[in-house]
Amino acid sequence: MCGIFAYVGGRKDAISLVRDGLKQLEYRGYDSWGIAYPKNEIALLKEVGHIPDKILEEPSSLALGHTRWATHGGVTRLNAHPHLSSNKKIAVAHNGIIENFEQVVSKYDLDMKTKTDSEVIPLLIEYFLEQSYSFEESVRRSLQELEGTFAIVAISSAHKELIVARLGSPLIIGETKDGFFVSSDIPALLGHTKKVLVLNDGEMAILSGSLELKNFYENVSLDPSFIEIDWDVSTAEKSGYKHFMLKEIMEQPKTILDTLQGRIKDHQPLLPELEGINPKRIIIIACGTSWHAGIVGEFLLEGLAKIPVEVEYASEFRYRDPLVEKDTLVVAISQSGETADTLAALREAKKKGAKVLSICNVMESTIARESDIVLYTRAGPEMGVASTKAFITQLTLLYLITAHYASKNKTLSVRQVQDMCDDVLSLPRYIEQVLDEKGQIEEIAKEYFESRNALFLGRGIHYPIALEGALKLKEISYIHAEGYPAAEMKHGPIALIDVNMPSIFIATRDTHTYEKVLSNMQEVRARGGKIIALATSGDRRVTELADHIISLPRTRYALSPFLVTIPLQLFAYYIADLRDCNIDKPRNLAKSVTVE
Ligand code: AGP
Repeated sequence: MCGIFAYVGGRKDAISLVRDGLKQLEYRGYDSWGIAYPKNEIALLKEVGHIPDKILEEPSSLALGHTRWATHGGVTRLNAHPHLSSNKKIAVAHNGIIENFEQVVSKYDLDMKTKTDSEVIPLLIEYFLEQSYSFEESVRRSLQELEGTFAIVAISSAHKELIVARLGSPLIIGETKDGFFVSSDIPALLGHTKKVLVLNDGEMAILSGSLELKNFYENVSLDPSFIEIDWDVSTAEKSGYKHFMLKEIMEQPKTILDTLQGRIKDHQPLLPELEGINPKRIIIIACGTSWHAGIVGEFLLEGLAKIPVEVEYASEFRYRDPLVEKDTLVVAISQSGETADTLAALREAKKKGAKVLSICNVMESTIARESDIVLYTRAGPEMGVASTKAFITQLTLLYLITAHYASKNKTLSVRQVQDMCDDVLSLPRYIEQVLDEKGQIEEIAKEYFESRNALFLGRGIHYPIALEGALKLKEISYIHAEGYPAAEMKHGPIALIDVNMPSIFIATRDTHTYEKVLSNMQEVRARGGKIIALATSGDRRVTELADHIISLPRTRYALSPFLVTIPLQLFAYYIADLRDCNIDKPRNLAKSVTVE
């Protein structure tokens, strides 16, 4: 969603630094952009649409920029950030929502010109400046008036400072020898520095030649604690691939190994974070793709570790007053660690006394920081809006957690747990084999890229992967796609089957529902439907029923969801590419969904 990028320091190219930073944030999704920098008044560049490749060159050592994903007010140049005070001497970029902006406007009789909630901030700062407060104190007093969530960056034409603050929306400061960068996320900083300070809620920083950190409620100074990020800058670049999504699909063998690094020892799972946590019940909360990973987790944890599991949409969990007993472990899964629905559900779970374990990709993200225990997926920055490598690493951690509890609860023998650990270490090799066959998937995509609808069908542990296959296709190609447990098809969706409706079946031999899936394929075939089947290599029975076969290496049940995921990601990718879609930045979507 919205992104902030800013610079203050010794360099004179602040405007292009900020433009480049906003380009890095494009993947989050946006519909307009803007940059502000000080002159006599504040100079402002802003437009609806894409950030241009070239931008006005004017020397400045201070600039702030914003990419907007509209919430309050339409997509117009006027509503694009940064917003200015009435005298045009203050500029503010804001992420989040100011819930009480109407009350603030009437309390201080402010003259709003835009339809955004954000404009209230520069107007309020101006109000306090007119009461003779310093710039810093005016910002601080303004922050105290605001309710809701925000990450803000403010500049004034009369001061060589950048003032930033956070309440609920992420904001990261990067330190270099030439000054400070500020960004909504870490990947955009990697080209400049790996030394970062993640602001906490209630903190503001005053940045010029130095950094001063404060709590803006109590006005007390704080010691900044910078951390070193170990992500590589190349992971946030396309490295010769046409799209980030394809690059990230191809990276998956490596990301699985990164996730497993140091977490298997002597053929046994090694998750010290889980010591002393012995749940009687697990509730998994997540959204979208992470929710699909959660359902795979349900099959693994219930089936192999024998712990009762429920998987809930985070957005629903929060509002239905759920029962959370003692000994319930709530597992929040989130790639970004900033998803507002998941964060709100996590807070609700904690309020009810649950311990929360989060599975996150982004270090120091809000969900990670608010959880009792964090397991990082270590997928590296995921730049494509469609989650691929993050999903596969979520599955990897859920698999390891299952092995851990299966060992602890003795629901599997030592030998079986050992097999689980050995198997997952060999998984990247199998995935390489599937990736090597991507040309075949591209050929199939050529036959179906003009379809208007598609059904994805699988049973048991493959059912969440069918849902994920459908989500991938719809979000990047805009083809209407539905995922179903295959047996549910005859309870309604079968009415849609005809020669124009492809059904993608997950029909590998590694589950006990294999025979049943074949029957479901027969039902589609009998109605003239086209079938693309994911089958175990050499399976003649599936070959006879399907129009197209995607062959997969034989594997064990618990690893099967990983393998069947890969062709579905590639299928969605090639279809979207043939349709000339904006694959890495699909319309209306945002990488990190920070509104409820
Ligand atoms: C994935 O392809 C989607 N873009 C989306 O469903 C995503 O998984 C969802 O918004 C949850 O995001 P999170 O993992 O960052 O919490």
